Amino acid sequence: GPVTAQLVASRVLDVPDFPKPGIVFKDLMPLFADGAAFREVIDDIVDHHGRDSFDVVVGIEARGFVVAAAIAYATGVGVVPVRKAGKLPRAAYAASYALEYGEATLEVHQDAFTAGHRVLVVDDVLATGGTAQATLDLVERAGGTVAGFSVLLELSFLNGRDRLAPRAVHALLTV
Ligand code: PRP
Ligand code: MG
Repeated sequence: GPVTAQLVASRVLDVPDFPKPGIVFKDLMPLFADGAAFREVIDDIVDHHGRDSFDVVVGIEARGFVVAAAIAYATGVGVVPVRKAGKLPRAAYAASYALEYGEATLEVHQDAFTAGHRVLVVDDVLATGGTAQATLDLVERAGGTVAGFSVLLELSFLNGRDRLAPRAVHALLTV
């Protein structure tokens, strides 16, 4: 709601020319570092979806891990990591995507999900949507059912939401 949107807005730092010239990096570390604000945004994500609407939460390496672990602990579900290539020790599915700055591959363990388990996917920022699209595809390939996707901050000028359509995107703040 409006309270958490304002919390995110007041605790995101714009860092020009990081990691490359022309990119304005959205740094949410001040939000993560503020215990009361962090708890508010986590609770708001849970309330939006409903605490009984998902069986497991997926966090996208690395900044999505922070959000996912908190939601998992708050609701009593488990957390599954979607990791950057080469980090997972067992058989994994891989999906490559173009990032706002560069290209990358994400992976998930092939046995990460119980069939039919409803999966809430979370990350800090939705930009071009490449990261999210790859992750949602991986969840389904691994047998999960996507129950929802939330981010703290959506950069609407990069049209990630359109890329993910018809899947719904829940953003605490859209700029
Ligand atoms: C950032 C951010 C999102 C992604 C959004 O992650 O945390 O995961 O970019 O971009 P997209 O919508 O254009 O795909 P990044 O890949 O920089 O890595 P990090 O989370 O490990 O810092
Ligand atoms: Mg990330």
